[in-house]
Amino acid sequence: MDLNILIMAAGLGTRMKSQKAKVLHKLVGQPLINHVYQAALGLSPKRVVFIVGHQASDVEQVLKHFHNKLSKKEEHNNSRPTPPEFVSQIEQKGTGHAVMMAKELLAKDSTPILVLSGDVPLITSNTLKSLFSNHKELNVTATVLSTKVANPAGYGRIIRNEENNFSHIVEHRDANAKELEIDEINSGIYCFESQALFSALERISPNNAQGEYYLTDVLSAISSQNKKVAVYQHMNPEEVLGINNRIELASAEHRMRTTKLESLMLEGVTLIDPASTFIDLDVKIGMDTVIYPNTIIEGETTIGANCTISTGAHLINSHLANNVFIRDYSLIADSFLADQTTVGPFAHLRMGTHLENGSTIGNFVEVKKSRIGQHTKAMHLSYLGDATIGASVNIGAGTITCNYDGKNKHATIIDDNVKIGSDTMLVAPVRVGQGSMTGAGSVVTKDIPENSLAIGIPAIVKRTLTKT
Ligand code: UD1
Ligand code: CA
Repeated sequence: MDLNILIMAAGLGTRMKSQKAKVLHKLVGQPLINHVYQAALGLSPKRVVFIVGHQASDVEQVLKHFHNKLSKKEEHNNSRPTPPEFVSQIEQKGTGHAVMMAKELLAKDSTPILVLSGDVPLITSNTLKSLFSNHKELNVTATVLSTKVANPAGYGRIIRNEENNFSHIVEHRDANAKELEIDEINSGIYCFESQALFSALERISPNNAQGEYYLTDVLSAISSQNKKVAVYQHMNPEEVLGINNRIELASAEHRMRTTKLESLMLEGVTLIDPASTFIDLDVKIGMDTVIYPNTIIEGETTIGANCTISTGAHLINSHLANNVFIRDYSLIADSFLADQTTVGPFAHLRMGTHLENGSTIGNFVEVKKSRIGQHTKAMHLSYLGDATIGASVNIGAGTITCNYDGKNKHATIIDDNVKIGSDTMLVAPVRVGQGSMTGAGSVVTKDIPENSLAIGIPAIVKRTLTKT
């Protein structure tokens, strides 16, 4: 679109009572500012310029990183999201002052400017598109996005004239009793014709309760020159919720999570108790999967169809295929689980663990950086780290891969059809050949050839097993 977008993100956010700049506080796992950037990108603008001040380098870092991530996702369709640009506002003298900082960058360009607030993160690209097309259709100099709210406290109020058109905006702190009763508020989102914006900014002054240059005063400065200012009233007040304190942050969090859960349910996922189910926005879940109460599913996790995620499960950046069964209180991070696998209760999978089709990891089993073959079972009380385990292996209760010698990590290889006896210690590096078996309590310090029975401490091959 022929549009530049300016996002104000320089303030500290005093009302957050935090060491951290407000726009870096997280909402559904993403800094506030990323949500606003993403909504902006939905319009494919020519430029996206951020006004940064407080913790500017952190804010820039976060946005560049997010842009890289989005670019990678878009690589296959050859489109590249508009990169973030930054302008600094060293001293924060108000929203009007913030926009002045972008003069050098944007005033020469006649492209219209959409101004967004970094602390209004629920805004959608669709709403911004409607605002912009309304602005174009009415052929006005400026448009402000307003909405009516039940509790307007803290927001600037839209004051209309006798013809019900825009007159000016009065900030909560500057408002009289009558103005405070007005329930139509300023969302902090505007569309401007570029030249008019920057020339009006030269005519505003900080004569107000906060001693700041208010961007809102630019609108009356424009209309006083007989240029048109429109009010575009939005019907969904929740979308323009501004985050100024942690109560508002929690209510935005609740709003976004609810929307995500509702869309999953409409796509065919059963959530037994949405109120105690936490699912990040990027998570994908297939049809007829059932999610029990008290579950957390984070990051880029994907879950296929017909899976069951039982209570207490916590999944982070993991991929579950179809018909996977996660039993109660299992933590699964950065792992891949193929079809028909079962995990838990009380299991811990991490760091690139890969469960092949039909394998089972039972209670009190930890698996780290290991591959578990098809139909292999480790049902009870084990640690399997840096292991490659073949198909149809049975790992007896209490088996440990002793992968760490105090300095380095070593690999354990267990070939197909092996039976590891209960309480076996596999001192890595070590390999157990296919079809072999270890006795209960063995300490395996040397490779065991195929089809052999090894027992004892250290384990010694007792005899060859005949194939069955
Ligand atoms: C602002 C509006 C108010 C509106 C509300 C909507 C003004 C004067 N008031 O009030 O009418 O109802 O948003 O949410 O604009 N910022 C800077 N530099 C500054 C000051 C602020 O970059 O010098 C940034 C902040 O980081 C923030 C945004 O601008 O992201 C809004 O600032 P904030 O102080 O939160 O304004 P409000 O008091 O909420
Ligand atoms: Ca605000």
